[in-house]
Amino acid sequence: MSAGIPLNQNVINMEYAVRGPLYHKAAELRSKGRNIIPCNIGNPQALGQTPISFYRQALSLLEYPPHIKRERTLKGQAPALKGMDNQEWISDYVLDFSEDFLTKMETGMGAYTDSKGPRFIREAVSRFIDKRDGVTPDRGVPSIPDHIFLTDGASEGIKNIMELLISDGNDGIMIPIPTYPLYSATIARLGGAQVNYYPDEDSGWTLNREILEESFSRAKKDNVRVKAIVVINPANPTGAILDRKSIKEIIEFSGEKGLVIFADEVYQDNLYGSEFMSFAKALGDNRDIPLFSFHSASKGFYGECGHRGGYFEVRNPPGSPGGDNGFIDILFKQASVNLCSNTIGQALIYLLSSPPPEGSEPYDQFNREKQGILADLYEKAVMIKDSFKEMKAVECFGRVGAMYLFPRINHLPGGKTDFDYCMSLLEETGLTTVNGSGFGQRAGTHHLRIAFLPPKDTLEDVLPRWIEFHNNYIRD
Ligand SMILES: Cc1ncc(COP(=O)(O)O)c(C=O)c1O
Repeated sequence: MSAGIPLNQNVINMEYAVRGPLYHKAAELRSKGRNIIPCNIGNPQALGQTPISFYRQALSLLEYPPHIKRERTLKGQAPALKGMDNQEWISDYVLDFSEDFLTKMETGMGAYTDSKGPRFIREAVSRFIDKRDGVTPDRGVPSIPDHIFLTDGASEGIKNIMELLISDGNDGIMIPIPTYPLYSATIARLGGAQVNYYPDEDSGWTLNREILEESFSRAKKDNVRVKAIVVINPANPTGAILDRKSIKEIIEFSGEKGLVIFADEVYQDNLYGSEFMSFAKALGDNRDIPLFSFHSASKGFYGECGHRGGYFEVRNPPGSPGGDNGFIDILFKQASVNLCSNTIGQALIYLLSSPPPEGSEPYDQFNREKQGILADLYEKAVMIKDSFKEMKAVECFGRVGAMYLFPRINHLPGGKTDFDYCMSLLEETGLTTVNGSGFGQRAGTHHLRIAFLPPKDTLEDVLPRWIEFHNNYIRD
């Protein structure tokens, strides 16, 4: 047997509930032939969501450019090919779009790119941000392409910025509780201090100054130097969407305490009728507060998790030796160590930033698919939320956003935890959820997170079984 090697204790201490014991139990049951409904993770295409045709047509051509010419030639012979079944031509718009992308990409899809990502993609992202935030030549603050970095999913950017901020156990990051466990796990891995703040569940997960101050002063008492605050909007795991007042409170608070803001906005398209206010827009011309905003190709209606596309934008880069550019240079160095993010993810970020304009050939289909996915997600959320009304001692707060519901279970049988509940639910019904304690929660409360992603007929089958399970379980 080989000698033991001392391992990094930070990594050993790190926890990641989304792929924890429930995930492994579900895999074990599936291998035994059980029907498992994986609502434990926001992975839409794993639950049958169809990719957006515009994205996939372009990606296929980018990866194999000879098909652009082939498609044009075949289309020229269309009358002769009329007899072919289900022949669907790729529109000239997509062919031109793909050709144009490859011209700008210069070195193609198989070469390393600039470590920040190609400039033309960052320019497209910058236009996307300005359009989203209603920036015009005489209104708003335009984003700067050189302050945008393309990343392998939003996760990579989040980890890199955290790494820059945490140098020892006294460096603290405020995170919402419940939280997306990437944050708690990354802070643990880097050996930093996790500083919890608790949005008010009963008022729909809103925030006020008292909540933020309480968290900050607790950290100060423990000699923690708080450097940043993380905000997830719309939120994972609660699905809540922050109101303007809460956003304003966070900005004012961060300004006073000298904090960096992490705005995790990967669910900015998962709103279902509510309004989204980006932190970049809310910050306006405030030049004092450093802001990192994160977005991703994994969520929204795009749902391309496996392709790992993401970006972050920096506003008001914090001072560093060498001034503003010094900070961007450090970020660039950090990105360079990874060479570059993957090019398919980069292309998806370009596609996400450059949807087909109204009147273009793919527009109608694109819009139909986009609206169809979002409407379907909302209907499924409502189906699940309605079923909570039939479960005793269950309440679910906040507007519907992101891809999750986070109901509170107000009563559990003696000695049982929400983890026990989720495990029994999985064993009895095949429905895989994640226990609230995996995201952190106020002491004495119990929750679970369910992703509202499975097809409706699957929900129609499993929800009555869940209701029955629940009402029996809490009676025990
Ligand atoms: C709030 C939040 N941020 C970031 C991520 C990571 O996304 P990506 O796939 O872009 O790394 C997720 C994924 O579920 C998320 O829920």
